[in-house]
Amino acid sequence: MSKIRIAILISGRGSNMESLLQACTAPDFPAETAVVIANRPDAAGIAKAQGYGIQTSIVDHRQYVGRAAFEEALQETLLKHAPVDLVCLAGFMRILTADFVNQWQDRMINIHPSLLPDYKGLDTHARALADGRAETGCTVHYVIPAMDEGPVIVQKRVPILVGDTVDSLAARVLAEEHQAYPEAVRIVAARLSGLHRA
Ligand code: GRF
Repeated sequence: MSKIRIAILISGRGSNMESLLQACTAPDFPAETAVVIANRPDAAGIAKAQGYGIQTSIVDHRQYVGRAAFEEALQETLLKHAPVDLVCLAGFMRILTADFVNQWQDRMINIHPSLLPDYKGLDTHARALADGRAETGCTVHYVIPAMDEGPVIVQKRVPILVGDTVDSLAARVLAEEHQAYPEAVRIVAARLSGLHRA
């Protein structure tokens, strides 16, 4: 089986990154990791990736003046690890410009802790609780220039329980995120492999 090569972009803890690295250790998983890139030198996920023997790189946004210069460095780093078939944003906390996003059209995906289109942006769990919602969840979607929009690949629903706090809810949603992201990569890999054959 020929595997697609993914790049994983993180800003912090990297638990979704780790769920992908873990999935990639299975011989029948259709992807392998080309590189993990963080925009923060203190991202805890970098050490985790190194523990898996994965190539890592820091592109610190604070070292660049303006988004264009940062994104140029990001693109260079991705190309240095070519071929990269798919970019996976996993807790990557920088807004990307339309120019960058369009370079990776249909080849960049993101995970978000809500049932999109509900609760785009930050503090998703606090807002779902404040609204008295009965359920929330997580979404893996293709990235388009508009933030937290784009075609949905996988969604997982999570019931909101009486007594839930932001932390208890976040923990249950995160467990679903860790299932959803590898599932989404499988789906996209199948699509990309079909395109290669066509
Ligand atoms: C996750 O909840 C993800 O959905 C959101 O940011 C969080 C990142 O967590 N975009 P981690 O770094 O993957 O542990």
